[in-house]
Amino acid sequence: MEIAKVGVLGCGLMGHGITQICAQAGWDVVVREVDQEKLDKGIGKIEKQLARAVEKGKLDHNDADAIRGRITPTLDYADLSDCDLVIEAITEDLDGKLAMWREVDPIVKPDAYFATNTSSLAVADQAAVTGRPERFLGLHFFNPAQVMPLLEVVRADETADETAELGLAVGAELGKTTVAARDNRGFIVNRLLVPYMLDAMRAYEQGVGSVEDIDTGMMAGASHPMGPLTLADFVGLDTLASIADVMVDAYGEERFSQPETLRRLVEAGDYGRKSGRGFYDYSGETPVAVDPAR
Ligand code: 3HC
Repeated sequence: MEIAKVGVLGCGLMGHGITQICAQAGWDVVVREVDQEKLDKGIGKIEKQLARAVEKGKLDHNDADAIRGRITPTLDYADLSDCDLVIEAITEDLDGKLAMWREVDPIVKPDAYFATNTSSLAVADQAAVTGRPERFLGLHFFNPAQVMPLLEVVRADETADETAELGLAVGAELGKTTVAARDNRGFIVNRLLVPYMLDAMRAYEQGVGSVEDIDTGMMAGASHPMGPLTLADFVGLDTLASIADVMVDAYGEERFSQPETLRRLVEAGDYGRKSGRGFYDYSGETPVAVDPAR
């Protein structure tokens, strides 16, 4: 089936990026949020990115307008009814995702494909609450979706060959490098990356180095573009905490459990860059390391 119209559920950290790249690929995109404030915030981010690309001479003004014109923001699931592919990027909470699919499934045309951008939850669990598990797959994007080259294409037990192929084709259309991953918790990248970030927090708690020195160590010593604590703030500490809980349940290994500092920051509402504070304070011009263990 040709993809002409894509639905994106959620216009937050991942949803706004997915919306933008799908519109840039030439597809019409309907993006749905739970309230007007969240919707406006996500669309505002897309408009800012497009304006920046025009300023830098990377995008023609008319093309930027055309991309924005292909995006329809909505609060209403009914607007997704004629989408060919619906990608969910809502909060990483299984019950919330299941409730959402139960509402969306009867509304969207039966031959449309469904995809979850979950970071850690089982694709099969979500597919099972829809009437189309064979047309359901995982499409896991990386933050920022506009920049990161990878797309993990995840096949659950009931995903049809045709659906897995569609996932690879969507990746190709979006200019992404695709990898096929099994439907295990964390797929490939988070299975390796999440314990690394959690371990950096434990190293910090054990006094191995300061927040800044741990980050600088991994940037200058291993050529990572961001240190692990900056990356944790960037991913979102609340998201990371949810992923850790899912992974420790699945694997039963201590290295996937939430370090005390992460637990405390999340309890305090310090979710990292998106809330303005985490391992760093983002209220000024440049991020300033805080000392969250104290
Ligand atoms: N949206 C769109 N474009 C963005 C962007 C955003 N949010 N952030 C940066 N960019 C663009 C910039 O405009 C710039 O474009 P240009 O080269 O055309 O001028 C380019 O990316 C580089 O940005 P900057 O010069 O501002 O900064 P950096 O060179 O430091 O790059 C970065 C920023 C790409 C975010 C880089 O630091 C990086 O790669 N960090 C690691 C990110 C990472 O590991 N992500 C994966 C997280 S794990 C995940 O997402 C999985 C989930 O399930 C948890």
